[in-house]
Amino acid sequence: MRDPGDRAQSEAGVDVYRLALVADAATVRAREAMLDAAELARAGRRPTAAKRAAFVLARAALRRVLSAYLGMAPQSIEFSIGEHGKPALAGAAGAGLRFNLSHSHELALIAVARDVELGVDIEYMRELVDMPRLARRSFSEHEVGVLEALPPAQRHAAFFRCWSRKEAVIKANGRGISLGLGAFDVTLAPDEAPRLLATRWAPDEAADWQLYPLDPHPDYAAALAAGVAGLAIRTWSIEP
Ligand SMILES: CC(C)(COP(=O)(O)OP(=O)(O)OC[C@H]1O[C@@H](n2cnc3c(N)ncnc32)[C@H](O)[C@@H]1OP(=O)(O)O)[C@@H](O)C(=O)NCCC(=O)NCCS
Repeated sequence: MRDPGDRAQSEAGVDVYRLALVADAATVRAREAMLDAAELARAGRRPTAAKRAAFVLARAALRRVLSAYLGMAPQSIEFSIGEHGKPALAGAAGAGLRFNLSHSHELALIAVARDVELGVDIEYMRELVDMPRLARRSFSEHEVGVLEALPPAQRHAAFFRCWSRKEAVIKANGRGISLGLGAFDVTLAPDEAPRLLATRWAPDEAADWQLYPLDPHPDYAAALAAGVAGLAIRTWSIEP
C-alpha cells in the first residue's frame, strides 16, 4: 500500500486508486470534516447509514488523493460540475489535472492523470434476476448478440464487463447516458481486449477513446477509458 503523496508528481500515465467503502464510525466522522456543504447535503440524502458512509469515504478519498497532486489541503479543493454532471477541478487549480471516480457496493476507484480525459467504472457483479431484459435495455444490438452467443456460464461476467466498459466510455466523454447506451458498441467476449468498436452519433469518435482493463477484485468488473493510447496504468490501494 502506498500513499498518494509518495507517487512521483511528474510520472506520465494514469494512477488508479482502490479503496474499500467500509470504515468505523470515528473514521467516517473524521472524513466528513473534509467535505464541503454540498457534499454533506448529498451524503445526508443517502437512504441508509452504510450508503452515507460510502459516499463520505469516496468523496474524502477523492479529496485526499487530489491534495497530493495539488499540494493543497483536501478540504480546500473546489469542484465544478459539467453540464451532464461530470466533476472537475474548479478554476485554475491543477490545470490539466483530470480525475474520475466510481463506486459500487463496497469498493471505489479513483483515476487521476494529467492532460488526459478519463472515465472509470467499477461494478459489483451482483446476482441478476433478468439479465436478458437488462441487457436489451442497456446494451447495443451488437453487444446483445455477442452476449447471447456466449456459453451461459460466461454470460454473467461478460454482462458486467460490457456494463463497466460502456460506463467508462460515457464517463470519459462526460455526456453520460444522454449519448444513448445503444448508440455505441464495446467488446465483451472473454477473449476480446477492451475496445470501443463504434460510436454511431459520430463514427470518428470511436478512435478517440481507448479502453484499458482494470482488475480490482474478483467480485467486481472495472474499466478505464482515456483519450490517449498506450498509457501506463499504475494501481494503488489506499485506506478509507
Ligand atoms: C454518472 C453516471 C455516468 C454513472 O453513474 P454510476 O455508474 O451509477 O456511478 P459511478 O459510481 O460509476 O459514477 C458516479 C461518479 O461519477 C462522477 N460523475 C457524475 N456524473 C458524471 C458524468 N456525466 N461523467 C463522468 N463522471 C460523472 C461523479 O464523481 C460520481 O460520483 P459522486 O457523485 O459520488 O462524486 C450516471 O449518470 C449514468 O449515466 N448512469 C447510467 C446508468 C446505466 O443505466 N448504465 C448502463 C450501462 S450499460
